[in-house]
Amino acid sequence: MPVAIHAEGLVKHFGDVRAVDGVGLDVPRGSVLGLLGPNGAGKTTIVRMLTTLLRPDAGRAEVAGFDVLKDPDGVRRSIGLSGQFAAVDDYLTGRENLQMVGQLYQLSARDAKARAKELLERFDLAKAADRTAKTYSGGMRRRLDLAATLVIRPPVMVMDEPTTGLDPRNRLALWGVIQDLVKSGTTLLLTTQYLEEADHLAHEICVIDHGRVIARGTSDHLKSQIGRERVEVVVHRRDDIAGAREVLTARARGEVTIDDHMRRLTVPVTGGARLLADVIRDLDERGIEIDDIGLRRPTLDDVFISLTGRAAEADEPGDAAENDQTEDQPVKETVK
Ligand SMILES: Nc1ncnc2c1ncn2[C@@H]1O[C@H](COP(=O)(O)OP(=O)(O)OP(=O)(O)O)[C@@H](O)[C@H]1O
Ligand SMILES: [Mg+2]
Repeated sequence: MPVAIHAEGLVKHFGDVRAVDGVGLDVPRGSVLGLLGPNGAGKTTIVRMLTTLLRPDAGRAEVAGFDVLKDPDGVRRSIGLSGQFAAVDDYLTGRENLQMVGQLYQLSARDAKARAKELLERFDLAKAADRTAKTYSGGMRRRLDLAATLVIRPPVMVMDEPTTGLDPRNRLALWGVIQDLVKSGTTLLLTTQYLEEADHLAHEICVIDHGRVIARGTSDHLKSQIGRERVEVVVHRRDDIAGAREVLTARARGEVTIDDHMRRLTVPVTGGARLLADVIRDLDERGIEIDDIGLRRPTLDDVFISLTGRAAEADEPGDAAENDQTEDQPVKETVK
């Protein structure tokens, strides 16, 4: 299958920090690759190298057939980038922001207007369309930013944590928009901290940790490594932990993990809600009182614990710096 994005051996240091440490990836045309990793894993740095905003120290990459170092303009013409932090002009209205992007990309005034209107409706911004962006909430800015990247329907889209900061309704709406885009043939690289999101949107997932790919595969492949779902039980009395463990061992597959202090037992299962009902009945028959019980889907943390034996931790407190390096070239509006 022809690839839309190809990278090999990408490396980037910031002083002593090896932010990206030899990353290679391939995204077949028309597919979605999810880069999944905790804060500071190197996701944004990878995105910035692939979108020509940052020069790799080593390695090479091609996007839409253009080399990021030899033909950055070709790359920029072929991609839409939505960054982790919205790049919206505060002093323009939502509508003006979108029309301006259209005109930058040489749509006629009439087409730019029509496209802006369509996107404002799609992103639920029609009512606020004629207010300046500085009056928008965080989620509205995020949506406006994403809408701006879609003005010209680029063949390759790169989205850095597109749904961070959105409420559940808007997150779902955006998933819908992204799925429509992919159906129409767009290739997408997206970063996320949510396994659920990667699961939902991506054909393939690369798990990133400390600047390296530590696992890759389809979400089914990843989930088969970590166990699809878990039952989590909190027993009321510490004395009941052993009994509850027996119940879970009999019903589930895999080892029971016990958090003594929290009186919590966790075990990988298959069988979903029905199994949960069985477990509740078994516990009840033994007279084991429970404070809480539930079926839990795997999270990013579960992925990390099973891959690395430790929880996903941010590299450092606070969010990763987005300071511009002097070598960065300021580029066109939708590429930042
Ligand atoms: N411009 C920079 N100057 C110095 N260090 C940087 C710079 N950009 C990133 N880093 C460091 O590189 C590492 C990777 O950062 P990056 O922003 O790529 O992570 P991320 O996976 O996008 O994290 P997040 O989920 O928080 O967005 C971090 O340790 C970060 O502090
Ligand atoms: Mg980031």
